[in-house]
Amino acid sequence: MSGFGPAGPPPAPEITGWKHLRTGKVRELYTNDNNEILLVASDRISAYDWVMPTVIPGKGEVLTQLSLFWFELLEDIIGNHIISTDVPDVIEDRAIIVQPLNMFEVECVARGYLTGSGWSEYQNNRAVCGNKLPDGLFDGSKLPDEIFTPATKAEIGDHDINIDFEGAAKIVGADDAAELRELTIALYKTAAEFAASRGIIVADTKFEFGRNDKGQILLGDEALTPDSSRFWEASTWKPGGVQPSYDKQFLRDYLVSSGWDRNSPPPELPNEIVEKTAQRYEEAFFRITGSKF
Ligand SMILES: Nc1ncnc2c1ncn2[C@@H]1O[C@H](COP(=O)(O)OP(=O)(O)OP(=O)(O)O)[C@@H](O)[C@H]1O
Ligand SMILES: [Mg+2]
Repeated sequence: MSGFGPAGPPPAPEITGWKHLRTGKVRELYTNDNNEILLVASDRISAYDWVMPTVIPGKGEVLTQLSLFWFELLEDIIGNHIISTDVPDVIEDRAIIVQPLNMFEVECVARGYLTGSGWSEYQNNRAVCGNKLPDGLFDGSKLPDEIFTPATKAEIGDHDINIDFEGAAKIVGADDAAELRELTIALYKTAAEFAASRGIIVADTKFEFGRNDKGQILLGDEALTPDSSRFWEASTWKPGGVQPSYDKQFLRDYLVSSGWDRNSPPPELPNEIVEKTAQRYEEAFFRITGSKF
């Protein structure tokens, strides 16, 4: 099984001065003679571990610009990988030049609310990734405290697997695991508080950290985008079901209702779904930053 289906990933565009390194589900990575990385966000969208055959126009720009907003807002808590936003014209607004990081092989997820895989696990054992939780919570409930729920980064086409703190410590070592947990919770709390001031709930979010060539831990990848987070409308939040959201949930709900089996390459998306998804991503940007995309 491959996240891209039988045709494989689309060819990465050639960019003068940069050599293509690898293709992620959403991003293309390039490098140059200075050992910098050009991180280009495409308009691809993935769901249920598959990359959809239809793109969401403008999505790569929204992800990149929203990440830049958050990197700056959070840089007192931790430095990030950004070197420059001065990128070639063809990828303007959708790319950044970053320090190459040796990424920790753990996805650092913080949750303030119970939903998704956390809700599934809670129903089985009243805990999420080793964090014990009280009885009586619903899908969408606010958690008594923010929790760190790490996951292992799966290869393209595989599910990420939720692990507990000890599992993360086995992968990155106990000291680094403790530091990643502390950073993840601190970043989440600050971001969630900011978003709340704009009427948005950050239900959960995923960070990726790495070490640079000086051995410093930095925040890499993207930050608090609709791809990496669940953004809910605070004014209509009501535990006990699906929340109106500014993220991928709309696409996921469509895919479930479409009858697609999730085990074979996904169908092309109807125009209406493309447009509504694009609108939701732009609305997330607007609500959080206060600027029209
Ligand atoms: N500063 C950095 N240095 C090296 N790698 C980075 C850096 N920032 C992000 N990355 C990696 O670049 C990739 C981004 O691509 P994308 O978001 O499309 O990947 P993904 O589909 O989420 O994950 P993957 O394809 O790696 O399973 C991720 O593998 C991420 O870990
Ligand atoms: Mg990614």
